[in-house]
Amino acid sequence: MSKSDSSSFVAKDIKNKPLRVAVLVSGSGSNLQVLIDAMQSGKLPIEIVGVISNRADAYAITRAQQAHIPVAIFSHTDSGKRMTIKTFERHASVQLQDWQPDLIVLAGFMRVLSSDFINNVPAPMINLHPSLLPAYKGLDTHQRVITAGERYHGCSIHVVTAELDAGAVLTQALLSLSAKDNAASLQKRVQKLEHQLLPWTILLIAKQVISLDTLSFTNNDYLPSLPLKLFLDN
Ligand code: GRF
Repeated sequence: MSKSDSSSFVAKDIKNKPLRVAVLVSGSGSNLQVLIDAMQSGKLPIEIVGVISNRADAYAITRAQQAHIPVAIFSHTDSGKRMTIKTFERHASVQLQDWQPDLIVLAGFMRVLSSDFINNVPAPMINLHPSLLPAYKGLDTHQRVITAGERYHGCSIHVVTAELDAGAVLTQALLSLSAKDNAASLQKRVQKLEHQLLPWTILLIAKQVISLDTLSFTNNDYLPSLPLKLFLDN
């Protein structure tokens, strides 16, 4: 299926059914945990149909297993040999085709995916990025923000496209920097924002308030254009 067809997966009749979500992870999975908790409490109308990890030691795997969610591990360091991104993508594609998600969420997934994979996934894919995009694409965002003397920082949720961290931004959460902030404190503060922004954005997608077809609000008579920005200072 081509990229242009993929958005129809969200446009289909999902209003009364939980949104089928697949999550790709590499690390601790605190964002995955927030989604699991929201799903289990009935606050978020989703079904996490599976979790893919590219690291066998990711704590996210334990979180998924504890919630009885199917897990697929395609470790990039198995048997001491680095798995190429192509091999990872081949396995991940088969797995995603099997799970048939409506939405794919990269939540702390730390490998760069190829345009071929991105253009052929069976559902729209979104990524959580720890900066106010388009500023500070890539890694080490917290330190770079401090070094640059920025007043504001935060996180963004954007559609994944072939260009790294460059797809349409759907939502952002902002905080203001304090003189006491360092990279570690900022990381904690931004992660708190992520834990609010991610379920909230998925709720807007599940309820079809945000259309991934048109990359706008579905009923945009009264709503501003995307990205929606929340000032969630903490
Ligand atoms: C998040 O803070 C995200 O910004 C970054 O990776 C982290 C993932 O955290 N890309 P977790 O695995 O969800 O705890």
